[in-house]
Amino acid sequence: MWAPRKEVDRVDVNDRSYDERVTDVLIIGAGGAGLRAAIESHDRGAKTLVVCKSLLGKAHTVMAEGGIAAALGNVDPADSWEVHFSDTIVEGQHLSNWRMVEIFAKEAIERVYELEKYGAVFDRTPAGKISQRPFGAHTYRRLCNIGDRTGLELIRTLQDQLIARSVPFMDEVMITCLFRDPKTGRAAGAMGIDVKTGKLLLFRAKAVILATGGSGRVYQVTSNSYESTGDGIGMAYRAGAELMDMEMIQFHPTGMIYPPGVRGMLVTEAVRGEGGILTNSVGERFMSRYDPKRMELSARDVVARSIYTEIMAGRGSKGGGVYLDITQRGAEYIKRKLPSMYDQFMAFADIDITKDKMEVAPTVHYQMGGVRVNPETAESSVAGLYAAGEVASGLHGANRLGGNSLSDILVFGKRAGESAAKSVAAMDLPSVDGESIEKEISRVLSPFSTTGNANPFHIKEEIASNMWKHVGIVRNAADLEAGLIELEKLRDEAKGLKAVGERAYNQSWTDSLQVLDMLLVCEAIIGSALERKESRGAHTRSDFPSKDPKWLVNIVTSQIDGKMVRRTEPVPTPPEALLSLIKEDD
Ligand code: FUM
Repeated sequence: MWAPRKEVDRVDVNDRSYDERVTDVLIIGAGGAGLRAAIESHDRGAKTLVVCKSLLGKAHTVMAEGGIAAALGNVDPADSWEVHFSDTIVEGQHLSNWRMVEIFAKEAIERVYELEKYGAVFDRTPAGKISQRPFGAHTYRRLCNIGDRTGLELIRTLQDQLIARSVPFMDEVMITCLFRDPKTGRAAGAMGIDVKTGKLLLFRAKAVILATGGSGRVYQVTSNSYESTGDGIGMAYRAGAELMDMEMIQFHPTGMIYPPGVRGMLVTEAVRGEGGILTNSVGERFMSRYDPKRMELSARDVVARSIYTEIMAGRGSKGGGVYLDITQRGAEYIKRKLPSMYDQFMAFADIDITKDKMEVAPTVHYQMGGVRVNPETAESSVAGLYAAGEVASGLHGANRLGGNSLSDILVFGKRAGESAAKSVAAMDLPSVDGESIEKEISRVLSPFSTTGNANPFHIKEEIASNMWKHVGIVRNAADLEAGLIELEKLRDEAKGLKAVGERAYNQSWTDSLQVLDMLLVCEAIIGSALERKESRGAHTRSDFPSKDPKWLVNIVTSQIDGKMVRRTEPVPTPPEALLSLIKEDD
């Protein structure tokens, strides 16, 4: 239940005491997946608690601007879940888990109508139905939208539902590790820091749902909010959960390139959906070279690689990107359909997009890989630990379709909430052993007592520039090896991470802890990228430029005896009835 903030006592930097909270289902993260999971878990009778690292409402979900993909068929009646299934499998380059895609394509439709029932204010067709716009590589106009503020409206709506139900939440709580019952191995809770006070918190729970988003902030140029540092993936890995497809990082084709302070900020695909045209410095509509049929509405990986190729060939714009032009649509239309884009370019770049071209370049936007989950239940390989949304893997394969993330978080957020609530119905609270708690407290407090002098802000920047330089849109073995060597140096440096000042709102402390998970996530990304010796979807290797059927496998990352190890597993083949739905474009 929301309550006004109270004045708090100062916490000594060496204070090892902690407050304890007990719940049935602990949900970590309050983006769309966490909120939808919380609603479901609560409605099914489980005592539910949501914690999030920053403020409620401030989630990367808002960066899915252009729409939510679901085959309602309001604008193109021929659309169906079957076609959405096929598009998602084909554009994921057949790496997706077919059952997840089937569940997703079917249930996305009811989740959108449910969102409407919850109060989301969608744009409408003249007949009053939810309107749907075109987006890259979707066969039909499928993106239900609220101008270019769809993610924001989704969060607002779910937040209202959470508050209306009085589901308890704690914001500005950073979780640092997950605990497992020493006897059963089941997830048993988590340790965290109340960022406002610096007080330590122990959460004991019968089930834990990770909804922490991805790790876009391990890259220098990204659309992601500052919170997206991969903590959920790092924590799950440290707790023994398997990760999958970590090499698959999505570069959104269009991010802002200047001024420097907003480099990487998203320029929604809805600009191209509404007719935006990409040109290079010599005025060519260059997408005709790469995908003459779909042009600007080709798949994200294709458009991002095409822009990259144009820039590398010296045909980039003055600012080092390419041009994106929507002026032909006219001022009234642009301001109505793309109000945020209009405001964003006016406010940050002093450009009126109703009169002038934008300059754009690829920006890291999404992570297809993450915690491996059961398609039906969203449970990870650790019993009682669930994952939904960007932190999870399996749905998007090698390339996510725009708009599929918002439907993903609703479908699998709901499923995670449902499975977790069911699983706790008749069970006792798992135990957490005192030794693990004390060990974690020592780890969490170590940046205050270290003799080292490493600056977490500096290491964060170095991590991000290493990934940008060595693990970009086009990769090769030499660069990836160089990236690993640099990562090892940074890991060494990170042994001396130092926090300065008091415990309350201490970013040098929280960043020090984040850095450790960022290093783990980068190791998993680079290791898997080296392993996959082919080009598929978002993973392009200049030394292995073709797609190779041998690599129709998922790369699974896990921890054995404290070491990161990898294995490959064939992608499960869909049953005949679903195989026959898959329509490959020539
Ligand atoms: O371009 C966009 O509006 C992003 C949408 C998404 O990532 O799903």
